[in-house]
Amino acid sequence: MKKNVPILITQLYLSLFPHIITGLLVVARDSPPIYTPVEDITVKCGYSGNLLNEYDERYWHGDINSNFSPITGSDTSMFREAPHSYTVHQVSYTTARLSRSEFTYSFKLTSGQKFIRLYFNPVSYGPDFDRSKALFSVKASGFTLLHDFNTSVTADAYGTETIYREFCLNMESSEQSLNITFTPSPSLASPDAYAFINGIEIVSMPTNLYFTAAQGHGVGDNINFRIKNNSALETVYRINVGGKSLFFSEDTGMYRNWEGEQEEPKYLDHLSVEFSVLPQNTSIELNFERITEYSAPKEVY
Ligand SMILES: *[C@@H]1O[C@H](CO)[C@@H](O)[C@H](O)[C@H]1NC(C)=O
Ligand SMILES: *[C@@H]1O[C@H](CO)[C@@H](O)[C@H](O)[C@H]1NC(C)=O
Ligand SMILES: *[C@@H]1O[C@H](CO)[C@@H](O)[C@H](O)[C@H]1NC(C)=O
Ligand SMILES: *[C@@H]1O[C@H](CO)[C@@H](O)[C@H](O)[C@H]1NC(C)=O
Repeated sequence: MKKNVPILITQLYLSLFPHIITGLLVVARDSPPIYTPVEDITVKCGYSGNLLNEYDERYWHGDINSNFSPITGSDTSMFREAPHSYTVHQVSYTTARLSRSEFTYSFKLTSGQKFIRLYFNPVSYGPDFDRSKALFSVKASGFTLLHDFNTSVTADAYGTETIYREFCLNMESSEQSLNITFTPSPSLASPDAYAFINGIEIVSMPTNLYFTAAQGHGVGDNINFRIKNNSALETVYRINVGGKSLFFSEDTGMYRNWEGEQEEPKYLDHLSVEFSVLPQNTSIELNFERITEYSAPKEVY
């Protein structure tokens, strides 16, 4: 059974534009995050041990001989380090697990809605794993998250070195674990296609941040569109309209990236850029009565 993933353009952005990631300095958090997720799982694939990410001060856990090792396909997969790069240094991108056969990770999780983020650095991992040969599908909880995903062509199309994909899905209380399966998509033209992954992140979401509450009308209050727990969502864009980029460590505690418009308004046509202004009034007191404070960083409002 294959369910489709509807694509939700939430207020916002996603997906890795590395100039944003790498162009920012570490921003120290001056106050505790507004939201603290129950689950905050960070896996550095193809790595042994734990490594601190300087950007958000979270440890990323290796998947070699650890609680996070794949439950199947561990023996047929390989691990490699990405070639050194001056621009890609986030811990979620520097090592990879690769395989020409299927492999599955399994995470014990509580019930509830979760963010799932998959990190890919589509470089060649040696002569046997050329970057153009990566082609695979990713499934989780009955959903096909990525289908015949060609990472090198995707990164080239976005003009980025790395890619990440963010999904939201609900874990029912009857489900005790979430299996994430990577399956290579070999074809006649590419019989040696392989699957790979550099980093996996699972973060609990506040209930009904994007999904619709049982009594609610829909996303926002006046849109007649319900997002039920039996759907999965994929983030396409997350934009801080009229504002600056907000790095995941500047989010309210869910590690979301917000793409800015100030540096480079790439989603506005030329006329709109010419005739619009970026009004800012930082003395407005925000009042979170109807909207929860964790829904977005204050700068967004
Ligand atoms: C969806 O799931 C969440 C948590 O798992 C639950 O609190 C919520 O009531 C569910 N929503 C509906 C409409 O059933
Ligand atoms: C990925 O796409 C590129 C560009 O179209 C193509 O050259 C390459 O063969 C594709 N990879 C696979 C494994 O199909
Ligand atoms: C995850 O995979 C394992 C091994 O194939 C299987 O025993 C288990 O039932 C799966 N769990 C779910 C929730 O599909
Ligand atoms: C900013 O907002 C405050 C409160 O609404 C208002 O009193 C003030 O005039 C605004 N300032 C500007 C420059 O618009």
